[in-house]
Amino acid sequence: MIYRKPTFSDVEEIYALVAGYAESGLMLARSRNTLYESLRDMIVAEEDGRVIGVGALHITWDAMAEVRTMAVSPDYTRRGIGAAIVNRLLDEGRTMGVKKFFTLTYQPGFFQSLGFVTVGKDHLPQKIWKECIDCPKFPDCDEIAMVKNEGASDDDCSLPFESNLKNGNGEVVSS
Ligand SMILES: CC(C)(COP(=O)(O)OP(=O)(O)OC[C@H]1O[C@@H](n2cnc3c(N)ncnc32)[C@H](O)[C@@H]1OP(=O)(O)O)[C@@H](O)C(=O)NCCC(=O)NCCS
Repeated sequence: MIYRKPTFSDVEEIYALVAGYAESGLMLARSRNTLYESLRDMIVAEEDGRVIGVGALHITWDAMAEVRTMAVSPDYTRRGIGAAIVNRLLDEGRTMGVKKFFTLTYQPGFFQSLGFVTVGKDHLPQKIWKECIDCPKFPDCDEIAMVKNEGASDDDCSLPFESNLKNGNGEVVSS
C-alpha cells in the first residue's frame, strides 16, 4: 500500500470513489471543481496502481482543520486503510500547528476509534458552515459533528470552538 499526495491524474479515480458512496447516501458528493481545488488537502492510498482510498484535511481557521472526503474502496474497507489516511492527515495538521480537528460524518464509529468525540453542532464555529450553503441537504444537516483536540482531555473536546477564535491581534472574535 502506498500513501501519497495526489496528482491531477488521480482526480477521476477520486471522483468515482466518492461518487459511488454519495449515490448510496453514505457521504456527500464532491464536484470535480471541488476536488481540484482541494487536491493539496488530500492524501490517497494506492494499490496496484489504483487509488483505493482518499481523505482530506482542510484548514478552516487558526489552528483548526476539518477531516473530510474520507472514502476507502468497498473491496478494501476494514483493513486499517482509512485509519492510516486519517493518521497521516492528523500528522500533517500537527506539523502545521493544528490544535483542533473536527469532522462532520455519518460514520461516528470510525472516527471514535481514532479519538474523535461527538459534540453538538453548535460547538463548531459558524464560519465552517459557509461551505454548507452548496450542500443539497442545507439547512437540514444530518451529519454528526465530532472533534479531536490536541493535547487536551476528552472533556475539553466539549468546549465551544468559538472560545479560541482570535484575530491577528490575538483578540477573541466571533466566528
Ligand atoms: C468510513 C471508512 C472511510 C472507513 O475506512 P476503513 O479503511 O474501512 O477503516 P479502518 O479499517 O481503518 O477502520 C479503523 C477502525 O474504525 C472503525 N470502523 C471502521 N468503519 C466503521 C464503521 N462503518 N462503523 C463503525 N466503526 C468503524 C473500526 O473500529 C475499525 O477498526 P476494526 O474494524 O479493525 O475494529 C470506509 O468504511 C468508507 O469509505 N465508507 C464509506 C464512505 C464513508 O462513509 N465515508 C465517511 C464520510 S462521512
